[in-house]
Amino acid sequence: MLKTTPDIEVIKKALLLACRAPSIHNSQPWHWVSEGGVLNLFVDRRRRVHSADRSGREVIISCGAVLDHLRIAMVAAGWQANIDRFPNPNNQDHLASMEFSPLGFVTDAQRKRAEAILQRRTDRLPLGRPTYWESFEPVLRSSVDESVAMLDVLPDEVRPQLAEASQLTEALRGGDASYHAELEWWTSPFALSEGMPPDTLASASERQRVDVARDFPARGHAERRVEVGMDWSMILVLSTAEDTRTDVLGAGEALSTVLLECTMAGMATCTLTHLIELDESRDIVRKLIGGRGEPQVLIRVGIAPPIEELPAATPRLPLDAVLEIRSPR
Ligand SMILES: Cc1cc2nc3c(=O)[nH]c(=O)nc-3n(C[C@H](O)[C@H](O)[C@H](O)COP(=O)(O)O)c2cc1C
Repeated sequence: MLKTTPDIEVIKKALLLACRAPSIHNSQPWHWVSEGGVLNLFVDRRRRVHSADRSGREVIISCGAVLDHLRIAMVAAGWQANIDRFPNPNNQDHLASMEFSPLGFVTDAQRKRAEAILQRRTDRLPLGRPTYWESFEPVLRSSVDESVAMLDVLPDEVRPQLAEASQLTEALRGGDASYHAELEWWTSPFALSEGMPPDTLASASERQRVDVARDFPARGHAERRVEVGMDWSMILVLSTAEDTRTDVLGAGEALSTVLLECTMAGMATCTLTHLIELDESRDIVRKLIGGRGEPQVLIRVGIAPPIEELPAATPRLPLDAVLEIRSPR
């Protein structure tokens, strides 16, 4: 007989893949509850990155990304997710509740998208200019649902203004001890299941070749990717009509779409948010997209030299730290 709900083992496998999603400082601020045939996603406030993410937007964007990754992982396993977002008006931390129905078949493209989850990395080194961007941009645009998030590709001419917004953010935070202490903590070489390991960060000299990067504490003295003298990435902005929780969750889902679409096209990506964490610099970015929306996240997209090996994946929390299985009442 055809099964109408997935086994918990199928859900666990899909969650293991989904939790490869990007999150602010690799904080993984999500909590999953499986009960009967329903899977629920909650934001885990204990894992919030307070000083960087004062508005609380980035914790929700991270959860939006993991939600979309889960949907993709379940499709590859043969299950369509029927998602109810913010199902409980009395609990805004309950982001989504999902039931699943069996799919007749899984296409190669759907499998490839799930595989891209494992290939994607945040690449903080300078990137080369994407080749064939003109033919890729329409594909990318058609993958993003404009009613959920708007996608802008910034022209090269505005790059100096972006670099200025980046410097402004860092300057305004110069004396913010709690922000810097938080960054030190999330980049500690001793964190085994969260945070950013030293080799995922740029060294001081590598950092100089990317004019719009967040200033993480420099780790090591490497001089990698010397053939890319300066960053030539395209810079994308995802924005939403307003800043409601629904808008922000949608922006996170759109972030997942964009990152995976670029990964499937062989491009490297780096999510950027320091540029819009403070009102002063967010205003600059808002102007750069013609004031037509609230900037939620920026993404550098480019080419990493093909001879390089894929860097090791960043660590993740064990599944039982983020998943609770309840017996149906
Ligand atoms: C909402 C959000 C904000 C992020 N902001 C930045 C950022 O400003 N700079 C950066 O280098 N990476 C940023 N990242 C990338 C995370 O640091 C990265 O996803 C995490 O460390 C896990 O590594 P991975 O993406 O390689 O799996 C952000 C990711 C998310 C989802």
